[in-house]
Amino acid sequence: MVYFENNNTRSGDYDKQRSHPRPGHADFVAHQKYGGNEDYRGGGHFSARLTTGLVAAGSIAKKLLNHINNNFTIEARVIEIGGEADTEIGLQRAIDAKDSVGGLVECRVNGLPAGLGEPFFDSVESQLAHVLFAIPAVKGVEFGSGFAAARMFGSAHNDAIEDLEGRTRTNHAGGVVGGISNGNELVFRLAIKPTASTPKQQNSLNWETGKTEDFAVRGRHDLCVALRAPVIVEAAAATVLADLAMLEGLIPRVVVNNKKYQV
Ligand SMILES: Cc1cc2nc3c(=O)[nH]c(=O)nc-3n(C[C@H](O)[C@H](O)[C@H](O)COP(=O)(O)O)c2cc1C
Repeated sequence: MVYFENNNTRSGDYDKQRSHPRPGHADFVAHQKYGGNEDYRGGGHFSARLTTGLVAAGSIAKKLLNHINNNFTIEARVIEIGGEADTEIGLQRAIDAKDSVGGLVECRVNGLPAGLGEPFFDSVESQLAHVLFAIPAVKGVEFGSGFAAARMFGSAHNDAIEDLEGRTRTNHAGGVVGGISNGNELVFRLAIKPTASTPKQQNSLNWETGKTEDFAVRGRHDLCVALRAPVIVEAAAATVLADLAMLEGLIPRVVVNNKKYQV
């Protein structure tokens, strides 16, 4: 069992702003769906606190993945904040504007064999996207050249195969073709939106009056959620890849006390 205790809560902050469903956050839709039974404190189950379980599972998955290759690595990092490759500049711009800001996170996985991924719904891309979109604030996922591929010619986008291992000269595919890993580096990026709870004054619906009015979100909020995402992204991806590697029989099983375990 993995157990997380959180004694550092300030639920009262959320009572104070209850009259204003935060634009960009799930307050309004949660109320519509759960009819007032939703837990609004801390954002309830829409809070990124729920990703702690994912990170715990991911840390085990990473250990499992070391069994498929000694050189296995998975690394996610913030590559842009507010459109700036210099993340310090992008962040400072948001601090100066007293506003929240979005960012881009890139994840690179090395040491994956060719052949991971199942037909159709369970392709590497489908499975990863399924889990990655569960991370709050993720609004886009692209593999390899991603959306830029739509502006390219085929001859430029195709990755020439250089050897019998399937190594390619370029990696526009991002390591996946036909939903199956091709043995090259797996590369994907996530667009993370600006934190909904910006300190900046906004004009939006007041639930009590039924009218729009100015308000500002109070409480403890991340100015740039992207900065906190890499550890979650790595963990989320690791759970998927470990699963696919198990399906491929790449992670050996051990039997302890008559129970079968993957190692
Ligand atoms: C690590 C992390 C921390 C977050 N912290 C905040 C926060 O402090 N304030 C906030 O409004 N949203 C925060 N979010 C994003 C919201 O949880 C998310 O925007 C909200 O649940 C609505 O879901 P959606 O953006 O996926 O549509 C955070 C997300 C992540 C991944």
